[in-house]
Amino acid sequence: MIALITGGARGQGASHAERLAAEGYEVIIGDVLDDLGEETAARLGIAYRHLDVTNPDDWAAAVPERLDVLVNNAGIIHVNPLVEETLEAWNRLIAVNQTGTLLGMQAAIPAMRANGRGSIINVASIFGVTGSEGYIAYTASKAAIIAMTKTAALELATDGIRVNAICPGGVSTPMNASEPEGGVVPLTPLGRRAHVSEISGAIAFLAGDDSSFVTGTELIIDGGYLAR
Ligand SMILES: NC(=O)c1ccc[n+]([C@@H]2O[C@H](COP(=O)([O-])OP(=O)(O)OC[C@H]3O[C@@H](n4cnc5c(N)ncnc54)[C@H](O)[C@@H]3O)[C@@H](O)[C@H]2O)c1
Repeated sequence: MIALITGGARGQGASHAERLAAEGYEVIIGDVLDDLGEETAARLGIAYRHLDVTNPDDWAAAVPERLDVLVNNAGIIHVNPLVEETLEAWNRLIAVNQTGTLLGMQAAIPAMRANGRGSIINVASIFGVTGSEGYIAYTASKAAIIAMTKTAALELATDGIRVNAICPGGVSTPMNASEPEGGVVPLTPLGRRAHVSEISGAIAFLAGDDSSFVTGTELIIDGGYLAR
């Protein structure tokens, strides 16, 4: 089984790579942080490819002939209230988070169709389900990922390709290292951020046959944040 994980140089992507490799997958990680990506891949005994998810040529070069699992995990974030959002910042974030997910699914489909099966996992967020002040572009991109996941699941079901999204709450990674004190923690009933491995368990579930009847849905892993 072959899995390609974007944004795999660090954070959640590196953890997902470690988990899937431990489960026997042949794992390829893609990222724009080439030095760190090579280092992570060497540490985990997996492969690294330079893959800017906004670049269709990078996708064409990164997708192997056979592909069982694609995790569209790469993402960026910035904080700008609605009235202060700039077109440049908006376009950049939408290009990576939303268009990158579109290009990834498009690039993976031929290999998965040839294989007669596949699992695509798109990384959304609790901020794709609910609003959050200051995150106009990020919430837009993550809500779009959830919607795209459902449409893709409908279009690809007869090919044996399942498409699901995950919606993590706060997770301890470099992405939220600079977040305002506590971030979502005060609003999280479990009272902490997730460890990356707690998100990787969901990836392993959605990647494999334990989730063979699961498609077109979003799995929320948020310590209870959205239960309010
Ligand atoms: N950390 C959280 O609290 C949290 C919560 C919910 C969802 N998420 C989502 O989880 C995913 C992983 O984020 P993380 O928390 O591990 O953060 P992270 O910043 O540690 O990891 C993101 C990775 O994506 C890579 N990346 C950025 N732009 C890229 C591009 N154009 N092409 C390829 N790779 C690119 C980065 O280099 C980095 O390695 C993201 O989609 C993020 O939005 C994070």
